[in-house]
Amino acid sequence: MADYDFDVLVIGAGPGGYVAAIRAAQLGLKTACAESRETLGGTCLNVGCIPSKALLHASELFEEASSGALAKFGVKIAGAELDLDQMHAEKAKAVKELTGGIEGLFKKNRVEWLKGRAAFTAADTVDVGGRRVRAKNIVIATGSSVTPLPGVTVDDEVVIDSTGALALPKVPEQLIVIGGGVIGLELGSVWKRLGAKVTVVEYLDQILPGMDGEVRRESAKIFKKQGFVLKTGTKVTKVERNGAQATVTVEPAAGGAAETLTADAVLVAIGRRPNVDGLNLDAAGLTLNNRGQIAVDHDFGTSVPGIWAIGDVTPGPMLAHKAEDEGIAVAENIAGLTGIVNHDVIPGVVYTHPEIAGVGKTEEELAAANVAFKVGKFPFLANSRAKTNRDTDGFVKVIADAQSDRVLGVHIISSLAGTMIAQAAQAMEFGATSEDIAYTCHAHPTHSEAIKEAAMAVTGKPIHM
Ligand code: FAD
Ligand code: NAI
Repeated sequence: MADYDFDVLVIGAGPGGYVAAIRAAQLGLKTACAESRETLGGTCLNVGCIPSKALLHASELFEEASSGALAKFGVKIAGAELDLDQMHAEKAKAVKELTGGIEGLFKKNRVEWLKGRAAFTAADTVDVGGRRVRAKNIVIATGSSVTPLPGVTVDDEVVIDSTGALALPKVPEQLIVIGGGVIGLELGSVWKRLGAKVTVVEYLDQILPGMDGEVRRESAKIFKKQGFVLKTGTKVTKVERNGAQATVTVEPAAGGAAETLTADAVLVAIGRRPNVDGLNLDAAGLTLNNRGQIAVDHDFGTSVPGIWAIGDVTPGPMLAHKAEDEGIAVAENIAGLTGIVNHDVIPGVVYTHPEIAGVGKTEEELAAANVAFKVGKFPFLANSRAKTNRDTDGFVKVIADAQSDRVLGVHIISSLAGTMIAQAAQAMEFGATSEDIAYTCHAHPTHSEAIKEAAMAVTGKPIHM
């Protein structure tokens, strides 16, 4: 290995980086991973996917137990109480178990964890915590962090970001969420279920940008029914902290009269941006694209040979599973194999209740690209299992190419949408037609039968509608 310290040095141990490091080591490459956090697992395990899902699960249980919603099933619960400290403790335990698990996997696969912040000193050399390391291949997997709202200071007490919203010590009476995207709706749901009144201020006309239009409209109806106040088409012009509260000034995005809202917590959730500060990319000869990301080719190579990049720091959806798949692919490419990620088939899930999931193209994207398509829809009101469970919000929509019938997109609103979407992704990966799905036997009674029925509806022949 000449005078290289490692075959592969991965910078960042999030879902992209830790997976890349493990796969590289599995392929026989001498591998290290630099991580500046105290624990491995990146945003996802420490302050993202995992703690948010822990609170979503626990808050759903609390709401079910305390709201009387189970009484109609003959389950009466008196005196259900919230123990928020215990809820946080159980969340912390899950995070600790999972981040510790990655440390165990590093040991098992002989990936060396270099503790500290990494900065390039040359295209093949990086300083990590005072140690100079030379590697034949360097994978940048530094992820992303919260996009600040100009003029608004996150103080981690009243004005918070997603990390603060995962650790509030008490339930706010009023929570204002700035940004009607994934984080705003998931963490807004957590605190709403625990008793907060939640107002979401969204700049665009609809919440959940990027998702199918009909899904966005239907989701908004469902969230409003749950008690969310959704102020779409509204911009925030000022956030002022007054002691234990904050005043948020808003006005219509198109211009008009201003209004002030008061809350004891304001969550800023307007997106995330790539982590590149302090990496000293100049020393490596790397530049950023116009969105501040590191551009990569089909193999995850950057413009500098030997330097690769994956995950949130690169273009594409900022999702853990996208980063993980790229981690596997980049390691395989470095090892001389063929690592591929099909970016046309990356599912996205919003873990609210009901869940909202999609894979492939939306109707709007296909219309804009002048692709002729057919749509089949099936509502959960007509699905026997959903009806039995009294869980009938939502629908499945299957979009297929008008000529070839190949499935181009599937969009689902359902309590089980996050699990169900995997079937659609797999079908699309195998190039399935709507007819293929329609003629696949689905177990009865399951929510998944709605996917079969929506596929049948593409040709106008659902049975139960
Ligand atoms: P990251 O996970 O951000 O990891 C990058 C790591 O690099 C960090 O640990 C950082 O400390 C380290 N690092 C950065 N710079 C350096 C440096 N110079 N030297 C050393 N180390 C460095 N996605 C989903 O798919 N599903 C979800 O349910 C979901 N929920 C989320 C909930 C929240 C609240 C948030 C904030 C995000 C959520 N995401 C979710 C998004 C997901 O967390 C990211 O897409 C994912 O973590 C990206 O992985 P990554 O490996 O690219 O980067
Ligand atoms: P987002 O991009 O999903 O939503 C941000 C929202 O804020 C958008 O609707 C946008 O129009 C709005 N917005 C932007 N500027 C605004 C302003 N000044 N005033 C009002 N609204 C404004 O970003 P979010 O929710 O912060 O999440 C960041 C990333 O984390 C996402 O890209 C997502 O992929 C990832 N994530 C994924 C989750 C999942 O997969 N379940 C869960 C949480 C986060």
